[in-house]
Amino acid sequence: MNSIICPVCAEELKEDGRSLRCEKGHCFDRAKEGYVNLIAGARKNGSLIGDNKDMAVSRRSFLEKGYFDSLVKELISIIKEKNIPCPRILDICCGEGYYSHKIKEAFECEMYGFDISKEMVRLAAKRKNGCEYFVANLSRIPLKDKSTDIAFHLFAPFHEREFSRIIKDGGTLITAVAGENHLFELKEILYDTPYKNDERPPETENLVIKEKRKVTEKIHLSSREDIDALFRMTPYYYRTSDRDKEKLLSFDSLDVTVDFAVFIY
Ligand SMILES: C[S@@+](CC[C@H](N)C(=O)[O-])C[C@H]1O[C@@H](n2cnc3c(N)ncnc32)[C@H](O)[C@@H]1O
Ligand SMILES: [Zn+2]
Repeated sequence: MNSIICPVCAEELKEDGRSLRCEKGHCFDRAKEGYVNLIAGARKNGSLIGDNKDMAVSRRSFLEKGYFDSLVKELISIIKEKNIPCPRILDICCGEGYYSHKIKEAFECEMYGFDISKEMVRLAAKRKNGCEYFVANLSRIPLKDKSTDIAFHLFAPFHEREFSRIIKDGGTLITAVAGENHLFELKEILYDTPYKNDERPPETENLVIKEKRKVTEKIHLSSREDIDALFRMTPYYYRTSDRDKEKLLSFDSLDVTVDFAVFIY
């Protein structure tokens, strides 16, 4: 735990009973699930920000069915190729913790994860899998400078300055964005003229892309519930009219392409 820093003064946070405390006396309690809320000050009630409980539960139930496991396999093989004994790994904007959990299961590592949504982090911490989870903001990652061997960052906002600060020299950032054909069949049902995604990586000034990999396969969604859960995980859900949403209701199953672009910095 010696890499966690105070979100108020950036001093090291040390274990103090069931809390984390810095030398200046800023103190953050561990929730009963084991995570620590490191959003300082007035916005400490993380349930007011970020994804809500419904979104967290729906993401959990969908991912647990293994529909995106081709991406999990790719992440594990990239990390294995690095061949670092017990690397310190960070899951940036970890959501409900599916990917950090799978990676922690796959091999020996010290794993941290954070997200701004308290509901997401609560679900992640309930796994009790030996990962350290925090409620924290991307713009103020609660880790020391150059403390992280590998950070991964999936389908989330980008913050180059913070990523560069916390990753060790020679360390690795792995970013995944939706590929151009991701969920195209779903978009064909919803829209008259579906567009392909723009799979460009986030723009960076200093971080350099060493490699791009693609993970693409067709998955079979076997129930209306799974189709709905996947739809709710997408930004389209919030942009689609009720009339268009209804078009999906007539489907009991759906074959859909999952397509991810993975960038290794
Ligand atoms: C599309 S979800 C992806 C979650 C997870 N990486 C996954 O693939 O399951 C995006 C996540 O980013 C989080 N998020 C958005 N803005 C954030 C910020 N400023 N700081 C930390 N997390 C943030 C949201 O709460 C949400 O859980
Ligand atoms: Zn402090």
